[in-house]
Amino acid sequence: MTRTQVAIIGAGPAGLLLGQLLDKQGIDNVILERQTGAYVLGRIRAGIIEQGTVGLLDSVGASARLHAEGLVHDGAQVSVDGTRHRIDFRALTGRAVTVYGQTEITRDLMKVRADSGRATVYEARDVSLHDLDSATPIVRYEKDGARQEIACDYIAGCDGFHAVSRQAIPLNKLTTHERIYPFGWLGLLSETKPVSDELIYVRHERGFALCSMRSPTRSRYYIQCSLADSIDAWPDSRFWDELALRLDSDARRNLVTGPSIEKSIAPLRSFVAEPMRYHRLFLAGDAAHIVPPTGAKGLNLAASDVGYLSAALAEFYRTGSTRGLDTYSERALRRVWLAERFSWWMTSLLHHFPDHSSFDRRVQLAELEYLFSSRAAATALAENYVGLPF
Ligand code: FAD
Ligand code: DHB
Repeated sequence: MTRTQVAIIGAGPAGLLLGQLLDKQGIDNVILERQTGAYVLGRIRAGIIEQGTVGLLDSVGASARLHAEGLVHDGAQVSVDGTRHRIDFRALTGRAVTVYGQTEITRDLMKVRADSGRATVYEARDVSLHDLDSATPIVRYEKDGARQEIACDYIAGCDGFHAVSRQAIPLNKLTTHERIYPFGWLGLLSETKPVSDELIYVRHERGFALCSMRSPTRSRYYIQCSLADSIDAWPDSRFWDELALRLDSDARRNLVTGPSIEKSIAPLRSFVAEPMRYHRLFLAGDAAHIVPPTGAKGLNLAASDVGYLSAALAEFYRTGSTRGLDTYSERALRRVWLAERFSWWMTSLLHHFPDHSSFDRRVQLAELEYLFSSRAAATALAENYVGLPF
């Protein structure tokens, strides 16, 4: 049996960032991750980072490469049935976002974690949580065939949507809210020059598309696909053809195709489990909530959660007060629900819904027209996109 102050389940962005925020406060912690580090780095996900998230990465010394290599975007473009419009984040809010991949953030956090000397156990199998309502909860797991136990003061469940930590909470102590969308996103990463200097969100009768990037030479594209689709049905050539059909003529002309480095399908879901606490267990990131990717909020919410949680734990260890811990769930959920609303709204605005009537489609177009003709409407989008205050 080993002992630590905070046991963290999951070495995604939430777990790794929390570990280092606690380290900065001198709080001992151990991270348990089911997969290998290489596997975690192989998942291509988020790309848009809010300033609040950058601030937290700054505070743990994990942002040097982000500042050197990340691309600052002052605006984004929205293409509606072949016509492009620009939303100027800088002019509307005074702020911008940074394009820097989740893979790179994870790599940078893994590096500062290793340098800090705090323990991270990769390939920790069969993690289970016990005695959550006692003063000394216990985490059990298996490593290299041997059973291990960690006694701790608190557990942070940062283990993503299929979280064992959330499942350790009795069902009658948790309320869940969910919306499943009737489509998915097919994503493709390629070593090709992006079609534009800024992201293009595309609303098209054939379905949504997104032109994003990871660097001036690496593009990330998404197209709305059917939930029944499999990757095998989408050879690269079919992906590029379908993407081109959804783009405006300028973007189509600039589109450089090439072999995919990665290709995957993600279902779209909105989900919130509340409260984000059960006795000595705190949930953070995707373990507690999921947003559809439109609007790029998932990773940034994981960051704000662990920002609040680390501050609450630091207050407890410094002063003995549980005030921050007692209000953590309420505080985190306030920001979570605002991001849930925005992600649902962006998704509804830009996708083709198979069950939409002609009335629904006309309202969608009217909403877009309003967005492009009203500074107030554009500001509402920009304010949420660059990130509400942490
Ligand atoms: P995860 O990244 O899921 O990490 C959880 C970790 O826990 C994993 O490493 C997992 O292996 C581990 N784990 C799971 N179960 C166990 C267990 N039993 N024991 C031990 N370890 C366990 N967000 C944005 O902000 N901007 C974007 O642009 C954006 N784009 C996206 C695009 C796509 C296609 C997708 C799918 C997501 C996107 N997101 C985006 C969302 C973002 O990727 C997630 O919200 C983010 O990864 C959440 O981080 P997390 O640490 O909470 O969870
Ligand atoms: C990316 C993903 C998103 O969901 C989004 O809204 C913007 C960018 C990306 O992976 O680059």
